[in-house]
Amino acid sequence: MQGVARNFFTLAIIYALCGMAVGLYMAISHDHSQMTTHAHIMVAGWLMSSVFAFFYHLVPAAAGGMLARVHFWLTAVSGILLVVGLFFLMAGNTAMEAVTALGSICFYAAMLLFAFIAIPAIYRTA
Ligand code: HEM
Ligand code: HEM
Repeated sequence: MQGVARNFFTLAIIYALCGMAVGLYMAISHDHSQMTTHAHIMVAGWLMSSVFAFFYHLVPAAAGGMLARVHFWLTAVSGILLVVGLFFLMAGNTAMEAVTALGSICFYAAMLLFAFIAIPAIYRTA
């Protein structure tokens, strides 16, 4: 694995370690108020970044260009804004709603960019 695929897989592992730590904290403290944060770190973070990593690994024609690098950085920065914003929001800091919203919208934009990269690539390689 190399390039964008490796970057995504590294990001995925970081999400898994952070998200499971939040899960363990919830289980040990019996305080599940961060469930939404944990769920998004695990599925939008660990699982989605892993899918992107394996996609770019299996379809290297999609991984080489500038767009794939933009996809990585937009996903990484917006995803971190989304989950860090959620963490503070769930802790009761409503001022973080704007940050969470910005993260969410940019995360969606990153997914649109992925559609634009991935769909033509799979039809080209089919
Ligand atoms: C160290 C391992 C983990 C621990 C201790 C843990 C703990 C928890 C806890 C305490 C909850 C809240 C349950 C509730 O209040 O109903 C939860 C929910 C959740 N966890 Fe984990 N978790 C772990 C790993 C994972 C993994 C690996 C994933 C996914 C890849 C995951 C995905 C979720 C999701 C999606 C929810 C929300 C479920 C719902 O909407 O009802 N968790 N977890
Ligand atoms: C554009 C970014 C996203 C936004 C704005 C968003 C928003 C939300 C909202 C408002 C909820 C309900 C939370 C609650 O009732 O407390 C939720 C739950 C959930 N979302 Fe997302 N979501 C986003 C992306 C994703 C993605 C990409 C995934 C999976 C790959 C995902 C998986 C889940 C899961 C598993 C739950 C249930 C866990 C829970 O109830 O806390 N979300 N999301």
